[in-house]
Amino acid sequence: MHKFKSFRLLAGEGAPIRQFAELSVDDLSPGNVVIQVAFSSINYKDALASKGLNGIIRAWPRIGGIDLAGTVLESADGRFQSGDEVVVHGFGIGVEHDGGHAQVARVPGDWVLPIPKGLSLFDAAVLGAAGFTAAYSLHLMELNGLEPDRGPVLVDGATGGVASVAIDMLAQRGYQVTAMSGKADEIPYLKSLGASIVIGRLAPQDKPKPLEKAQWAGAVDSVGGATLAWLTRTMLPGGVIASFGNAGGAELETTVLPFILRGIRLLGVNANASMPVRQIVWNKIANEYRPKNLAQIARVIGLDELPSYLDRTLAGQIRGRTLIDMSK
Ligand SMILES: NC(=O)c1ccc[n+]([C@@H]2O[C@H](COP(=O)([O-])OP(=O)(O)OC[C@H]3O[C@@H](n4cnc5c(N)ncnc54)[C@H](OP(=O)(O)O)[C@@H]3O)[C@@H](O)[C@H]2O)c1
Repeated sequence: MHKFKSFRLLAGEGAPIRQFAELSVDDLSPGNVVIQVAFSSINYKDALASKGLNGIIRAWPRIGGIDLAGTVLESADGRFQSGDEVVVHGFGIGVEHDGGHAQVARVPGDWVLPIPKGLSLFDAAVLGAAGFTAAYSLHLMELNGLEPDRGPVLVDGATGGVASVAIDMLAQRGYQVTAMSGKADEIPYLKSLGASIVIGRLAPQDKPKPLEKAQWAGAVDSVGGATLAWLTRTMLPGGVIASFGNAGGAELETTVLPFILRGIRLLGVNANASMPVRQIVWNKIANEYRPKNLAQIARVIGLDELPSYLDRTLAGQIRGRTLIDMSK
């Protein structure tokens, strides 16, 4: 098989060394399915990993990229044929196993999901790990009683990748969405995705009361920290929070009062779900959760632009999803 382009991370002093390298398939982590990567993307975790933060990558060299969408080139797994369109996210790709930031990937067949009927390669790539996280959050919130007539849903970190897709999915499904964002100039973008109200980030509060005015039937939380604590204090009775992110902090300082007096539910979301769960959620994405603004949410770059966009992601200067078109 021909050589292909990759962007990989090598062990360095402090931060990893970033390197564009021409590789062959034997240089990749092992697996029985070889995929021509059409698109990968930048998730917040990729940006952290590219700087050596949070100890995400521990063995080098490593090709980052926690998601990819592409076409099967070769498969020793009978479930996949050459030409099949597939998506792969999580299972350690881009972390413990070479990921999507290369023109070719090699992974075990157990990690490979055929793109559901009705979604294109581009759609699956814009969604990726972020869209799956948004949909899995919605799935879990609805299993816990959320429905549109219960009240508004707050989406924080609203211009982020997961949040942008969540706003779109929630609005398509009939929810009234309030977006919380630190980017006042992106109000038109957030409204175009389906947010009916946009509010600014939480201002610091001194000694907040354990319960505040109840406002939200649901909350999709990318931010964590003080914002998540505020959410616990402002949920409507029976309200459900999907907590998956820590873009604003990892601590959680709250009381049990919202839980025992308002019956709120705090749902932890780990997108590295089992394959049966992925199949259920991706099927919903292609049908009842289907977003309609994916082209608007995506910014498409070439592999050579990846380093600068990793830095911009970490600096919070990005909105929506950044896709890497491997043919560019
Ligand atoms: N648990 C899981 O399995 C899982 C899966 C996917 C993602 N995640 C996590 O979820 C979070 C969002 O991921 P993503 O890929 O959507 O990231 P992203 O695209 O970088 O979006 C994060 C958003 O959070 C907001 N934000 C950033 N810094 C902040 C701060 N200091 N205080 C308050 N808000 C801040 C920004 O939105 P505004 O400027 O609009 O406010 C930013 O766009 C990350 O923490 C990521 O690691 C977890």
